[in-house]
Amino acid sequence: MNTERKIPLILDGDPGHDDAIAWVLAAADPRFDIRAITAVAGNQTLAKVAENCRKIAALLHLDIEVAKGREVPLIADLMTGGDYHGETGLDGADLPAPEHPFSSRSAVEMMADVLRESEDPVIIVATGPQTNVAALLLAHPELKPKIRLVSIMGGGLRNGNWTSTAEFNILNDPEAAWILFHAGVPVLMCGLDVTEQAIIYPEEWQKLRSLHNRVADTVAAWLDFFSIKLKELGWEGVTLHDPCAVLALSHPEIFTIKECNVDVVLDGEYTRGLTMCTRTAKEQPASCRAVTGLDREKFVALLIEACRSFGGGEVTE
Ligand code: RIB
Ligand code: CA
Repeated sequence: MNTERKIPLILDGDPGHDDAIAWVLAAADPRFDIRAITAVAGNQTLAKVAENCRKIAALLHLDIEVAKGREVPLIADLMTGGDYHGETGLDGADLPAPEHPFSSRSAVEMMADVLRESEDPVIIVATGPQTNVAALLLAHPELKPKIRLVSIMGGGLRNGNWTSTAEFNILNDPEAAWILFHAGVPVLMCGLDVTEQAIIYPEEWQKLRSLHNRVADTVAAWLDFFSIKLKELGWEGVTLHDPCAVLALSHPEIFTIKECNVDVVLDGEYTRGLTMCTRTAKEQPASCRAVTGLDREKFVALLIEACRSFGGGEVTE
């Protein structure tokens, strides 16, 4: 990704430990200019994830207000992740107090303002249910040309994780996902195909503590907490789902990406929320690029490097 000017970003998510770590990666990359943070209900209620958004912004010294999005999906009932990310939705580390009040604008209003005011098309990184993004596309179709790309963590071409067919973000609001995949804007889909390979192991994240800076220590504490739940589910490490949606933008060379046309199943007791590749690009113009693989060691090294950029010493091997 070679750019003269910084690339404007909107971060939309439901932090959530992996959303938070994705945002650390975005804030650490000098090529990105984070213009807005918008909260969407998902891992936890809107109130909880929105508060987490403000605290993460304070931790990363992002001088921007957080805008609250929808409290519930477009049509479906809200399905939170329960205590998967802890009571607050981001348990495990002491975070700084928020530095800004919530924006008086809604997430859609803030997103629309950023798109309107940006000289260059904007990348939206959506790491929660695609509810806010869909609401933006419905309310402001005229702003589609100002969307350079929507990079999502969501879906899976081979399996789900909340059910065996559906991934959590998609299943939370399948209608929103359907709107996004049919909106005619470029989509980069980091589904479970790649994110379940994006694993960091305890001996790797313990190195963060030798960096001696608050962000690195916080990420290590988040991973300590999040790994407890995942270990109960049989994972030996932490699957860094959402960070893929950022690193696939900044370091596509470490990923395997293919063009395809993705669709979302909206009905069926066992199929709602299923994402599938309906056509390969050669049969019709691809609406989506799906990320299906990565170099895990390079992925982990980039995370450690990003945490180092917030100050402190060398990583001790
Ligand atoms: O399925 C993983 C996704 O669900 C991640 O975005 C995680 O934060 C949760 O929102
Ligand atoms: Ca998320």
